Amino acid sequence: RKRIVVLISGRGSNMAALIEAAREADYPAEIVGVISDQPDAAGLKAAESFHIATRAIPRRDHASKQAHDAAIDAALRKMGADIVCLAGYMRLLTPGFVDKWLGRMINIHPSLLPMFKGLDTHKRALDAGLRVHGCTVHFVTRDMDDGPVVAQAAVPVLTNDTEERLTARVLKAEHKLYPLALALVASGKARMEAGRTVFEGVDHTGDSGV
Ligand code: GAR
Repeated sequence: RKRIVVLISGRGSNMAALIEAAREADYPAEIVGVISDQPDAAGLKAAESFHIATRAIPRRDHASKQAHDAAIDAALRKMGADIVCLAGYMRLLTPGFVDKWLGRMINIHPSLLPMFKGLDTHKRALDAGLRVHGCTVHFVTRDMDDGPVVAQAAVPVLTNDTEERLTARVLKAEHKLYPLALALVASGKARMEAGRTVFEGVDHTGDSGV
């Protein structure tokens, strides 16, 4: 089983979904640690209640972004991470750090990328009048919310939807999608090669099983 460390900044509901999924005996990964850049992140307490090792590594304790990421990299190696999962980690990682984990780091984003990179994705989907929205898990590359897609889930936008209801509907899909996508990467069925995701031994039905 691949060793996973999850990076968070806040609530950690996607982290919790990964922890729950990894409790299944046949899941190809185990969550061995959780690191937060926010010492008071609710997700850290949640991880502790699952008896998972946690570390808070705040930006203010380090002189530069590079030094901060170097401390995170050192913690990941100490925890023996094979794969890094970003789950609501709200900080752009430095190119040097990204390069070290290239092909071994994935992120979840609340939109159907490449639409709506960045923040306020649900409001932007509503403002654009879209009838379909969703979430994406992708390999992390140097550019924010970029990088080859591992899995996506589409979520309908309902008539007279509100930002709050749409956010909740997408989050529910995220909690199914992320464990599915991590299983693909951890089992080697989805690999990043030459800037693309290559799938092997995956029966493609056209959806993500969500
Ligand atoms: C999730 O909706 C995640 O997709 C989003 O932040 C939320 C974190 O919630 N991530 C991003 O916007 C990254 N660009 P969680 O802490 O409960 O998992």
